[in-house]
Amino acid sequence: RIAEVHAVEILDSRARPTLAVVLRTPQGLKVRAGVPSGASTGRREAVELRDGDPDRYGGKGVSRAVAAVNGEIADALTGREFDSFREVDDALRELDGTEDKSRLGANALVGVSMAAARAEALLGDRELWEHLAAVAGARPRLPVPHFNVVNGGAHADNPLDFQEFMVAPLGAPSMAEAVRAGAEVYAALRGRLAGLGEPLGLGDEGGFAPTVTLEQPEEVLELLVGAIGDAGYEAGRGGVALALDPAASGFAADGGGYTVAGESLTSDQLIDRYEEMVDRFPVWSIEDGLGEDDREGWTRLTARLGGRVQLVGDDVFVTNPGIIAEAVQAKIGTAALIKVNQVGTVSETLDAVRVCREAGYAQMVSHRSGETEDAFIADLAVGTGCGQIKAGAPARGERAAKYARLLEVADARPGLEYGWVRAR
Ligand code: PGA
Ligand code: ZN
Repeated sequence: RIAEVHAVEILDSRARPTLAVVLRTPQGLKVRAGVPSGASTGRREAVELRDGDPDRYGGKGVSRAVAAVNGEIADALTGREFDSFREVDDALRELDGTEDKSRLGANALVGVSMAAARAEALLGDRELWEHLAAVAGARPRLPVPHFNVVNGGAHADNPLDFQEFMVAPLGAPSMAEAVRAGAEVYAALRGRLAGLGEPLGLGDEGGFAPTVTLEQPEEVLELLVGAIGDAGYEAGRGGVALALDPAASGFAADGGGYTVAGESLTSDQLIDRYEEMVDRFPVWSIEDGLGEDDREGWTRLTARLGGRVQLVGDDVFVTNPGIIAEAVQAKIGTAALIKVNQVGTVSETLDAVRVCREAGYAQMVSHRSGETEDAFIADLAVGTGCGQIKAGAPARGERAAKYARLLEVADARPGLEYGWVRAR
């Protein structure tokens, strides 16, 4: 039962408004959730409600979403009996009444949904990850962290077109050693960038945002292999591997094709380029290698490289169970990125995970570029047992909070296995 649900307009890690939701139960329990927000969003994501009032936060205020929680949603939920957070989610969806959650806002809905899941776990005297595992019927597992150490694209004001360059300690023996590897590679990378005379400013996800000497993605990959070696690790799947999120919708050209470092490429030329990167560097995963509208390209990319690297769909799948099911039919990708606010409720997020599992698609739980200190996704990654998470650099509080939560869980449950899982 819900005694009270209340939202406040707070700031995210980019100084843009988002929601904090507080939920109370009659037993005196109080839980909180912070709502994440993306910058390079897929077109078919559930709709984040922004005020559009240019006099407040340049139009980015969320006072309407806050009012939806404190008005309509509170009226509908308060005092009502729910057997599970899924029932709360169903009630939220019904109340909103739109396919894309645009009336009350996916940001309003997801905050309430996250808080409801958390309250239910506490009422059952379970950790959130334990509860999510029970609900999802999954075997919990500590995920391989994908540390985003170089930022470009929509997350940094620099010449790099690719959005994210990540290091993934696939070969680490434990969660604690994986986090140590991430931090040590980050420190080594900082040294290399300083040596190049690069400014050491950070992008939105806490990775470095070099502006001077690096333009081509291959140059960054080479630098990362060097930094991994400097830190004393093996660059590769047995040690620290590389992962990319080019977020290719961000550099798709208007009439089709792509522009990378000023050069025009067709889909097939970009696929060739990825193949060369996979030949030359220990890249194990590529997310959004092509744009969300380039579905034929995606099918060709999957046929060409799907057997060699993981191909993750983010903007193309938007954590939507129905869209993922369609993509499986079209043989697009081999894995899905999982973001709660992309679909708008926790139970639909778990549905997306289930669709992936049934189709033999891997899953990577993900933060957004705009974050709060809420570490919900750490529990989600452990609870779904998907074996992979990306939560940005091992730096900046809102990113480090996720890794801290994973370390806490690992410490409390030494029996939990660490590592990625082959989906099929
Ligand atoms: P976003 O980027 O949170 O800005 O959408 C993250 C991603 O593309 O994976
Ligand atoms: Zn992405």
